[in-house]
Amino acid sequence: MASGSKFGFGLHSGFGHPVLRQWQENNTQISASNLMYPVFISHDPNGEEEIPSMPGVKRWGLNTITTHLKPIVENGLTSILIFGVPKTDVKDETGSAAEDPKRSPVVPVIQLIRKAFPNLLVACDVCLCTWTNHGHCGIIPQDANGQIDNAASIKRLAQIAVAFARAGCQVIAPSDMMDGRVLAIKTALKEANLGRQVPVLSYSSKFASCLYGPFRDAAGSAPSFGDRKTYQLPLGSAGLAIRAADRDVEEGADMLMVKPGIFYLDLISKIKERHPNHPMFAYQVSGEYSMLVRGSEAGLFDLDTAIMEALRSFRRAGTDVIISYFTPRVLENLRISQKV
Ligand code: PBG
Ligand code: ZN
Repeated sequence: MASGSKFGFGLHSGFGHPVLRQWQENNTQISASNLMYPVFISHDPNGEEEIPSMPGVKRWGLNTITTHLKPIVENGLTSILIFGVPKTDVKDETGSAAEDPKRSPVVPVIQLIRKAFPNLLVACDVCLCTWTNHGHCGIIPQDANGQIDNAASIKRLAQIAVAFARAGCQVIAPSDMMDGRVLAIKTALKEANLGRQVPVLSYSSKFASCLYGPFRDAAGSAPSFGDRKTYQLPLGSAGLAIRAADRDVEEGADMLMVKPGIFYLDLISKIKERHPNHPMFAYQVSGEYSMLVRGSEAGLFDLDTAIMEALRSFRRAGTDVIISYFTPRVLENLRISQKV
């Protein structure tokens, strides 16, 4: 392939001017529709709780969330991803509180946000770890020696998915990594007559990463024993990540995800090449968020420059939508830059 070097012309001529640079980067621009904003919803209706491990991120309550979202929506926010954060004393063996409006803020907040912001697309994380007393992403029967009951888990996840969808959730995003959960959820949505409206955004290639630590503080979802290595992927395995994405496509996933983002760009690009017709999501997880914030506080780089470089790398790798805690900040910066 000609690069311009054979005749000594070089490459510089193609990107000397800002407009020329933009032409070279046109497929990897960042705009509002490339961003999804994850939000933590506290059981405390008046919540506005700082999360020490995620500076600048807060848990919001039913009485505070719309005020928080309003200016972000006005800046162009198109979609959010909801995480419920329940009180510790409602957690049990099956995560029975997840869709109970008396013990979980998720169903009420879906209804509230749908009403307050009719054009905002509402997605919900579906998992068991925040709702179970042991903090694992599946059901562990008492006599099971710490082993997950996969069949019981996917049945329960499908129940929660249907309840969230009935409440008005427009995208179901299962993050549990149980075997067969996409098929179970798709089937349950169809049986509930919601199959044609509510798609599944699968956390298809989710690794057993150290970068979720700050999130587990935020959501109170750390496992009380063991780790997640029996269901989240081994971090060195590209093969399993690709098989997991293929499997979820077969089971009917509407959208795919790689998580975390920045250490796994190789898989974003491989999976996007394999499944070019499925929107590809990357989750810039809590640890990635806090690394950039802390690095900039230490004077290592400018935060906004670093954020844009990270987001650009996701887009370059083939990501269609980035799930990022920086979304409000990026939208504000985009608005300011478009005004001048
Ligand atoms: C729940 C879930 C986790 C994240 C999203 N959904 C944590 C985990 O799997 O332990 C991580 C998000 C982040 O770190 O920002 N299964
Ligand atoms: Zn989980």
